[in-house]
Amino acid sequence: MSPSAAELGSVIQLPALPTAPSMVRAFGAAALRAWQIGTEALDTTLLVLSELATNAVKETGPAIRPEGLLPHEPLEVVRVRIRILRSSAVVEVWDASTVAPSVNPGALEADSEVGRGLFLVGELAEQWGYYYPAVGGKVVWAQIATIPTTALAQRDARPKPRI
Ligand SMILES: Nc1ncnc2c1ncn2[C@@H]1O[C@H](COP(=O)(O)OP(=O)(O)OP(=O)(O)O)[C@@H](O)[C@H]1O
Ligand SMILES: [Mg+2]
Repeated sequence: MSPSAAELGSVIQLPALPTAPSMVRAFGAAALRAWQIGTEALDTTLLVLSELATNAVKETGPAIRPEGLLPHEPLEVVRVRIRILRSSAVVEVWDASTVAPSVNPGALEADSEVGRGLFLVGELAEQWGYYYPAVGGKVVWAQIATIPTTALAQRDARPKPRI
């Protein structure tokens, strides 16, 4: 896949089940690897994506772990979009709830036992936020710095030093 395109993107929809975050991670890893954003940015983006997907499932998935789920059983879904811009990755996670996410006030304390996922997202991402799309529900998004795709292309084009 050419990294020279100004913007590249990928979308997936999954049932809001406890298995969703790891599947989102696998999907994200495949997409981000194809776009060659660099290992550190890839790991950070996957971590942020996992936190957002886990929150979306927690908020809209079944309260009790479903046993013997039938294939026709209705379930909420979560949707994920990953985009690569020139020097950042943007992850967006949609869920059906209109409840706004908010960092737990106690999350900053070192020995905090309250949720820290969004606090971590705030530390790792350049920006994060949420918006309400016309279809309902909400999208929680985060933007993570990457090596600019143009710089990556130049780096890869440079002759490798001989050791
Ligand atoms: N997608 C979401 N929809 C509605 N509320 C959310 C969503 N994401 C987060 N929240 C709210 O924001 C709070 C903080 O989220 P955060 O991820 O920081 O902590 P947590 O999920 O409770 O715990 P942890 O991530 O450490 O397991 C949540 O407890 C929840 O109330
Ligand atoms: Mg969380």
